[in-house]
Amino acid sequence: MSAERDGDKKQKNYADFLKLDVLLNLQETFQQPAAAGEMMFIMIHQISELWFKLLHHEIRETCELLEQSRCLPAVTQIERIHAILRSLISVWECMQTLTPTDFLAFRSAFGNSSGLQSYGYRLIEYALGDRDLSCLRRYEEMLQGYTLLTAELERPSLYDHVLLYLNKRGFLLPAELLERDYSQGYSGHSAVVDIWLTIYRNSDRYQDLFILGEKLIEIDCLLQQWRHRHAVTVERVIGMQPGSGGTSGVPYLKKIMEKQLFPDLYQLRFRLFQSL
Ligand code: HEM
Repeated sequence: MSAERDGDKKQKNYADFLKLDVLLNLQETFQQPAAAGEMMFIMIHQISELWFKLLHHEIRETCELLEQSRCLPAVTQIERIHAILRSLISVWECMQTLTPTDFLAFRSAFGNSSGLQSYGYRLIEYALGDRDLSCLRRYEEMLQGYTLLTAELERPSLYDHVLLYLNKRGFLLPAELLERDYSQGYSGHSAVVDIWLTIYRNSDRYQDLFILGEKLIEIDCLLQQWRHRHAVTVERVIGMQPGSGGTSGVPYLKKIMEKQLFPDLYQLRFRLFQSL
């Protein structure tokens, strides 16, 4: 892109279009000159937050496609979600070069702030269907974050949209699922597992739904990989120190690795093998 003049009107150039003068001035280190690893620490967090933002955008687009009953475009959109998650996982390569001594040199500068307060990350969990309301209080002081999170809770999650779509396709859902309060988390339902069983046992007939199920479980597996790499990196840098956000640190991060986004899809596997 180049700056061109169109009569008196100056056209936007590359830097204007991407707001580079703003974007590239957002990397303020705690110390001047920056301590070793400090710039990387800040930028990887910022880069991850940008990926979170894009991830959320793509999840919402997928929800819209399902609402319009466009299953195959939704599946393609989910492949982009996978690609973003893989990019997020790859940032740990760079973060793992941070040594404990690098970190010690600037750790005290950010006090009690912690990834625990990342509303971008929580927004993704909420959009996907993992809706832990107990952590909402943490974001009350962050006006933008709190507004986004509370608005998200009023909308059906990605998995809710999948269920509504299955219902439209003739796999009738129990009334309590159709009328449920979306702000509450969803912990799985035996009637939905039965629906998935029918789809997986007849995968030729319901090929698009079978692929949708497989694409969903891939989201869960990739998010688990992100959590795993996070926990491993944190242990490598701070060992078993408590976290700056007040949790036990690594034990907390290992505990949240057990979370599953789509319990029905795991229960389905159990049932499939049980019936052998
Ligand atoms: C060396 C680098 C890092 C260290 C030492 C670290 C440490 C921690 C610790 C100890 C926690 C637990 C909460 C607490 O008590 O603070 C946490 C949570 C979290 N961190 Fe990191 N972290 C690092 C890098 C990152 C990066 C690059 C991101 C990406 C934005 C990130 C995002 C998060 C999120 C979202 C949580 C909350 C997870 C949840 O509650 O589900 N962290 N981090």
